[in-house]
Amino acid sequence: MVRYLFSAVAAAGLLTAISGAALADGDAEAGKKVFNKCKICHTLEAGVNKVGPSLAGVVGRPAGTGEGFKYSEAMAGSGLTWDAATIDQYLADPKGFVPGNKMAFVGLKKEEDRANVIAYLQSGGQ
Ligand code: HEC
Repeated sequence: MVRYLFSAVAAAGLLTAISGAALADGDAEAGKKVFNKCKICHTLEAGVNKVGPSLAGVVGRPAGTGEGFKYSEAMAGSGLTWDAATIDQYLADPKGFVPGNKMAFVGLKKEEDRANVIAYLQSGGQ
C-alpha cells in the first residue's frame, strides 16, 4: 500500500512535470480561497465526511476509496486515480468527466483556480 501510494505520487509529479505550465504552477495560498467553494461539502480532515468525502490525502488515492463515505457507483467504478491531471479534468467538468457521479458542483472554469486548489489539496490544507 505504501509502495503503491509512493508510485502514485511519483506518477502525479511526473505528469505535472510533463504537462508543464498548465498544471505546474498552482499556488496553495490562493487555492485556500478557491477551496471555500468546496467547504460546504468537503473537509481536509481525515475521516471527516460531509455531503462529500474528506479530501485529506486525495491526491494519489484511487477514486471512490475515502474511508466511510458512500460513493456513487459511477465514482467507485470509475477506475481513476486522483493526481493533478485527473483532478484538473474532473473539476473542469465534473459531470462530463465522471458521468453519473453525484457531486452537485458545476466545476471551476478557470484553469488557474483549478491549479491553485489542486496545490492546496496537495499541501494537505496547511
Ligand atoms: C455540493 C457539494 C459539493 C461541492 C460544492 C464540491 N463537491 Fe466534490 N464531491 C461531492 C460529492 C457528493 C462527491 C462524491 C461523488 C460520488 O460519489 O459520485 C465529491 C467528490 C469529489 C472528489 C473525488 C473524491 C474521492 O474520494 O474520490 C474530489 C477530488 C472532489 N470532490 C473535489 C472537489 C473540489 C476541489 C471542490 C471545490 C472546487 C468540490 N469537490 C466541490 C460534493 C461536492
